[in-house]
Amino acid sequence: MLFDTHVHLNVSHFDEDREEVLARAEQAGVKYMVVVGFDHETIPKAIEMAEQHNHIYAAVGWHPVDAIDMTAKELAWLEELSNHPKVVALGEMGLDYHWDKSPKDIQKEVFRKQIRLAKKVKLPIIIHNREATEDIVEILQEEDAKEVGGIMHCYNDSVEYVDSCLEMNFYISLGGPVTFKNANLPKEVAKYVPADRLLIETDCPFLAPHPKRGKRNEPAYVQLIAEQIAALRDISYDELSQQTTKNAKRLFQIQD
Ligand code: NI
Repeated sequence: MLFDTHVHLNVSHFDEDREEVLARAEQAGVKYMVVVGFDHETIPKAIEMAEQHNHIYAAVGWHPVDAIDMTAKELAWLEELSNHPKVVALGEMGLDYHWDKSPKDIQKEVFRKQIRLAKKVKLPIIIHNREATEDIVEILQEEDAKEVGGIMHCYNDSVEYVDSCLEMNFYISLGGPVTFKNANLPKEVAKYVPADRLLIETDCPFLAPHPKRGKRNEPAYVQLIAEQIAALRDISYDELSQQTTKNAKRLFQIQD
């Protein structure tokens, strides 16, 4: 039984065969997933999927790459959606210094506003971080994000920052890169994170794990990620699956 904590089944890559993808996920033992919406198109689709399927939950937030497009209207929209019974987190939000569509100061402001909203509505947050770990940790500390905690999504930095994240009540989520041959950082992190703070995710359609690397990713492949992490931690696949599923249900407050 697996919990894929970060999927984008709400994007057009899955328009042709969404139901088949869901069926393959079920066959692979994926019992729960969180569909993450991040803009005007993907947020309503995430909500729609969560309403249609018992085992699907939604997260809503504004992506840092598009921070420049977020006005008071979008923030109010996120607040309204946070009341939806299937919305279990806000995000993804954060900082992305790889792309320059939105200037850094605007990204930071939009990030802070969403953290404040999460504290107001009492939901955990999902962090997108690209080449910005130091600034992210600093903002999370300044905004006292510890109050809600959340997920460092597709964590891709050294173990050095893991302790700061744990102290702020964050979980560390690992995806496809942990299976890549020369990816030493996520492998070290996979061994380092305490059992009760580890999560797994595909971030599909992106970042497919080995041996599917380069292809479209899908939730069924979270199995490959779980196998790799179990091997690195020298525990059974069942133990790893159970632990990460339990962690995700605790964080998202899913009861069944
Ligand atoms: Ni994502």
